[in-house]
Amino acid sequence: VSHVPQDMTGRTVVVTGATDGIGRVTAERLAQRGARVAIVGRNAAKVRATVDAIAGAAPGAPPPTGIVADLSVQAEVRRAAAELDASLPAVDVLVNNAGAIFSAHQSSADGIERTFALNHLGYFLFTKHLLPALRRGTAPRIVVVASEAHRGASLVLDDLTFRHRRWTSWGAYSESKLANIMFTYALARRLRGTGISANCLHPGFVRTQFGSTGGMFGMLLRMVMQVSAISVERGAATSVFLAADRTVSARSGEYYDASKARRSTDGSYDAEAQEALWVASERLVGEPFTV
Ligand SMILES: NC(=O)c1ccc[n+]([C@@H]2O[C@H](COP(=O)([O-])OP(=O)(O)OC[C@H]3O[C@@H](n4cnc5c(N)ncnc54)[C@H](OP(=O)(O)O)[C@@H]3O)[C@@H](O)[C@H]2O)c1
Repeated sequence: VSHVPQDMTGRTVVVTGATDGIGRVTAERLAQRGARVAIVGRNAAKVRATVDAIAGAAPGAPPPTGIVADLSVQAEVRRAAAELDASLPAVDVLVNNAGAIFSAHQSSADGIERTFALNHLGYFLFTKHLLPALRRGTAPRIVVVASEAHRGASLVLDDLTFRHRRWTSWGAYSESKLANIMFTYALARRLRGTGISANCLHPGFVRTQFGSTGGMFGMLLRMVMQVSAISVERGAATSVFLAADRTVSARSGEYYDASKARRSTDGSYDAEAQEALWVASERLVGEPFTV
């Protein structure tokens, strides 16, 4: 990727799921460009170690900070956002990155299918509660890590949480990644005129810890990963590009792949379905999200 992201000195960036994989490299690269970075992870020891590693790799940047929160749990999402809102003068960039694929059908602490709870509702609720801090930012950007996996999916709006249909690992995952894209488009529409942008992306097929939670699918995925996936360095490039590059400062409501705008599936542009997803998401988090 040939783009040289702009200097991030003076900018504050929040990256979720930054204790490993794409999120970790994204946070580190942005810190190396001078950003003050705040990371969110679920494992306290890993958060501490990552904060130290980023500080070591980016000695010129303000000291990074870490928040420990399981982003599949709504109360923890609210608390994490509240802590950041209280401790940071402003947030200029939010990178919603924390995500996973699960090998078994499980419920979150809030009783919601875990893939949808973490991958979609985590982004939705965290963005809502971080919006006041983003409004205090300068030319604020919201970056959403989605996936090409969305191409095989369609949203089942009357059963987003798999209560009345057969659950599959990949089915739940790909639908959650389609939800990421449709959420981004609906969010960008609401943010028009506010100066805050929202874009989403596919990082590529990246060699990370993704899928390491086990299961047949995870095992197969990780075998294929060893052979054909790109490095985590390259995998973070489009996130860094959308977080930092000057050329996208006026872009919003777009999907990127390899740092280029690309069309997502036809179905993802269905504004009526995006709005239905928004309303369903508000119901599932038990609060309105008004921009
Ligand atoms: N890898 C790919 O090929 C690929 C392709 C398309 C899209 N993506 C997307 O890229 C994003 C990052 O994935 P990755 O490949 O970098 O995976 P990864 O190596 O497994 O990293 C995921 C990160 O999210 C964190 N996380 C997981 N569950 C969490 C929870 N409940 N609360 C808070 N943090 C949590 C993990 O924390 P721990 O360190 O504690 O595990 C880790 O920091 C995901 O949204 C994924 O859907 C990946």
